[in-house]
Amino acid sequence: MSFQTDSQSNFPRHVAIVMDGNGRWAKRRLLPRLEGHRQGAKSVRRAVEFCRRNGIEYLTLYAFSTENWKRPQGEVSGLMKLLMQFIDSELEEIHANDIRLMTIGDLKRLPPHVVEKIQAAIEKTSQNKSMVLNIALSYGGRQDIVNAVLQVHEAIQAGKIEQSEVTEETFEQYLDTASIPDPDLLIRTGGEQRLSNFLLWQSAYAELYFSTVLWPDFDDAEFMKAIEEYRSRQRRFGMISEQIEAEGRRS
Ligand code: FPP
Repeated sequence: MSFQTDSQSNFPRHVAIVMDGNGRWAKRRLLPRLEGHRQGAKSVRRAVEFCRRNGIEYLTLYAFSTENWKRPQGEVSGLMKLLMQFIDSELEEIHANDIRLMTIGDLKRLPPHVVEKIQAAIEKTSQNKSMVLNIALSYGGRQDIVNAVLQVHEAIQAGKIEQSEVTEETFEQYLDTASIPDPDLLIRTGGEQRLSNFLLWQSAYAELYFSTVLWPDFDDAEFMKAIEEYRSRQRRFGMISEQIEAEGRRS
């Protein structure tokens, strides 16, 4: 990977992607679904490179949802194998480019040898500062919220916080994404227009961008189209245009 940061104005700080369409990409070519995922892993590399080069600080990828466990056993184990291969082939470059790897989701459900490899990669890159590559694995937005509720309850019971201290700001400290900002731009490839249980709380104010391009074909030009669309929108966070413009003039 050749990474170089151009600092760009008005770029999103955090991009989250639902990488959909691997299966259809393969089907159209009469290939097994796993071949689509294999090509999808190449797109992952390309997207990481794109973000690092363009100074996007956080990239969150929906690699495996809580619902994906229901897929045929062969596809699930193939995806686990691909994830291991991705770490084997990319970790050195990820590390050399100062990228920190992290995950969200219930890692405990993954096979122990996969978890070990992921944890070693997280540990190795833990001091890196230029970008975060956050992979959602066995992740579900509703589960994330329920876990946070349970943890808040426990903290109250243990006397660590008062019920009156539970605000949006304190609550989100118990989500899997506690250490990272909310996504500014959420992209879904593959033509469907839904969130599929991805970052439900965190996407409250994200700009949504839906591409008909299948994930294995989502290249730099397609990524840039999403960024351009994002840059052309005005994010109002519930305010009116004039307030946003006045804030822009002040900063
Ligand atoms: C959705 O496409 C994609 C997935 C469930 C898996 C995504 C995994 C990868 C891109 C590769 C491995 C990931 C990493 C981080 C190395 P689909 O199979 O639902 O496509 P379809 O809707 O066309 O069937």
